[in-house]
Amino acid sequence: MSPIVAPNTIDFISHSERQTIRLGARLAPFLQPGDVLALTGELGTGKTRWVQGVCQGLDVTGIVNSPTFTLVNEYRGRLPVYHIDLYRLAGAAEALTFGLDDYLYGDGVTLIEWAERAADFLPDNYLSVELHHLEETRRRVVLRPHGDRFLSLLNDYKKAVFTR
Ligand SMILES: Nc1ncnc2c1ncn2[C@@H]1O[C@H](COP(=O)(O)OP(=O)(O)OP(=O)(O)O)[C@@H](O)[C@H]1O
Ligand SMILES: [Mg+2]
Repeated sequence: MSPIVAPNTIDFISHSERQTIRLGARLAPFLQPGDVLALTGELGTGKTRWVQGVCQGLDVTGIVNSPTFTLVNEYRGRLPVYHIDLYRLAGAAEALTFGLDDYLYGDGVTLIEWAERAADFLPDNYLSVELHHLEETRRRVVLRPHGDRFLSLLNDYKKAVFTR
């Protein structure tokens, strides 16, 4: 694997489930209405854990779990939160019929698991969160900004979390 990392990305290792949740939670203070997080990674890499962390940081009370019978769960914390999981998406057309656009351009924070399935529909500004399985309890997490909004957000996050 190339050690060269694209500029402006954050690439780190989470050593535990708790750490992944905490790193998600620490992103929450920087989020605003309309922000979109696109999560990718194989089964069981920690996408839902990351979402749970973000929700915790946004003061969502109640259970946060992937929607099973629908494609989206809605929560309410400091902001409305739309938790979308496209694992069961039948095809690109369905992305539009369930109203993906309304969430993406809505008034809340939208978190999408299996976001690669809706790649064509993502807005100009979004943060991609890529999770990779390394070992039993170790995951590589790559945060990649798309658009100016997340370029600056990621700088703020980096300062808050990785400098002391
Ligand atoms: N460092 C880590 N970060 C996150 N999860 C971890 C870590 N180490 C171990 N785990 C375990 O990996 C699993 C991650 O589950 P999670 O539901 O978050 O994955 P997912 O990517 O959402 O899967 P799916 O594709 O099925 O939705 C949990 O069982 C968790 O305990
Ligand atoms: Mg999941």
